[in-house]
Amino acid sequence: MNQKPKHKIGWLWENMKGYRVLYAVGILGTIVYNIMQLTVPFISSKIVDLFLAGEKAAENLSLHRDLFYKLVAAMVLLTFLRTTVVYLVCLDMEKVSQKVLYRIRTYLFDKIETQDMRFYNTFRTGDLMTRVTGDLDAIRHMIAWVLRAIIESFSLFFATAVYFFCMDWLLALCVLAIAPFIFLIIRLFRDKVAPRHKQLREKHAQMNTAAQENISGNRVVKAFAREEYEIQKFDECNKDYARMNEKTAMTWLTYFPYVETFANLMPLVLLLVGGIFIINGRITMGEYVAFSGLIWAVQQPMRMMGNIMNEFQRFSAASEKVMEIYYSEPAIVDAPDAIDRPERFAGRIEFKHVSFQYEDGNLPVLRDVSFVIEPGQTVAIMGETGCGKTSLINMIPRFYEPTAGEVLVDGYNVSKLKLRQLRKNIGLATQDVLLFSDTIDGNIAYGDSSISQKEVEKFAKYSAAAAFISKMPEGYETIVGERGVGLSGGQKQRISLARALAVKPAILILDDTTSAVDMETEKQIQHSLQELDFPCTKVIIAQRISTTKSADKILVIQDGRITEAGTHDELVAQKGYYYNLVRLQTGEEE
Ligand code: GTP
Ligand code: MG
Repeated sequence: MNQKPKHKIGWLWENMKGYRVLYAVGILGTIVYNIMQLTVPFISSKIVDLFLAGEKAAENLSLHRDLFYKLVAAMVLLTFLRTTVVYLVCLDMEKVSQKVLYRIRTYLFDKIETQDMRFYNTFRTGDLMTRVTGDLDAIRHMIAWVLRAIIESFSLFFATAVYFFCMDWLLALCVLAIAPFIFLIIRLFRDKVAPRHKQLREKHAQMNTAAQENISGNRVVKAFAREEYEIQKFDECNKDYARMNEKTAMTWLTYFPYVETFANLMPLVLLLVGGIFIINGRITMGEYVAFSGLIWAVQQPMRMMGNIMNEFQRFSAASEKVMEIYYSEPAIVDAPDAIDRPERFAGRIEFKHVSFQYEDGNLPVLRDVSFVIEPGQTVAIMGETGCGKTSLINMIPRFYEPTAGEVLVDGYNVSKLKLRQLRKNIGLATQDVLLFSDTIDGNIAYGDSSISQKEVEKFAKYSAAAAFISKMPEGYETIVGERGVGLSGGQKQRISLARALAVKPAILILDDTTSAVDMETEKQIQHSLQELDFPCTKVIIAQRISTTKSADKILVIQDGRITEAGTHDELVAQKGYYYNLVRLQTGEEE
């Protein structure tokens, strides 16, 4: 597990492992090419003093003409060299930034993949997408550009300041006395812009969430003819984001005139004080030329500071969002002393006084639920909608943990089993079917891509899907759209059932999986479920008596408790909830 570093830059450094030397070379190169900036004005000042304005200028020009040419050639060469260094540094830093971006993105995706249900209840898809795209790009920009700009500004400023001080400390002091005022303004700007960037990241995430929900929910939008409303809603988000962007960008404009005014005071001071110093012979003309030729090198970093600070705050806000995911730890993980059970599970399930309540819920969903399902048995779970059936079965693969009591599989508390091994043994067809944008074949073989085409077809047959698949234009190779667009509800359910069966699970859990198929098809499915060619414990949530009738045991849940348990005949004899259901569904004949 990663230890959370105190600072964002520390976190970046952490992720630069393997590229740190490359990056340090880049930083060094930045310092070098900025110091090189000073060489040209330095040589110019020498040329001025020796050949143009000095006492022996004319004499030098005729006697040492070769030196003059050499100095000019050195200037050209240094300029060329400097450009080359800049180019290499940019290349180097860009490369590192891409590598780090790739690394963090991979890590984040892995992180998101291994999260538990609580995480997915907390973060919305659009928000997560923003974090792994836009926010991450702000981080890449930090590595490739912002850090370099910071180093560049500081090294240019300090190198020039040192050079100025070497030439004449008093003039340097007069010119640089203005710098602290600019720093102060930048600081004030930072305090103002930092919260804006935070809000900006929020608005960005909100806008993406709105877009994502709308696109994936397009059918509902159309069904309710709410396009206008949704467009307006998105427009609000978009406007909000644009407004915030504008506001953030404008912030600098409030401070910019002050920075600019102070920065422009520098050449003025130079002209005034430098002029006096030349007149009274304190500095040479060449030195004045060097000062004035380099005054931009102290002005420029000052001017850049606003932009840099802006980008830095953008990075700061973005990295906060990324780090939130980066360091989030799922609560449901393998116990340190987890038992290793690589072999196939027998499939015995036991609930021992299990109570359950959602962390964000205020009422218990299940109370003191106890039952045993022996290997190979079929158990049906019934109860009215919202009574907690899905919540109950979610505790078997340990999507959620019981608030009290124990869930045991093969006699082991599920919290003591390795999650991977536990879940590999469970075939689950969820109530809300989700298929991937892939072929039907790919969807069925999702849990185990090594199974043969023949087997895929066999499982399709088990789930009564073979007939309709063979009628599709490209059979098993037909690509189903996102979330299974292009298939009927019942067809999706049957593919989801085939997918659950294809892993040949020791425990098969079907959550209302046949609710959308007709009675005849359901009968077929019931039949094949009894004929599976591998041992399998079946937990089936269903509403229809036809499904539950042949189960070894039926559990009825009411008010979070098991109120009836037994076979069809036993429960009918009890004349309770199940009996009433039977009467209702069979037209009160029984
Ligand atoms: P049907 O699928 O409609 O037949 O219902 P069910 O029996 O499967 O109910 P489920 O287990 O899904 O929900 C039981 C109760 O828990 C309901 O009152 C839900 O409102 C509540 N519930 C379900 N999921 C969540 C959740 O993620 N958070 C919170 N706080 N409550 C939830
Ligand atoms: Mg349910």
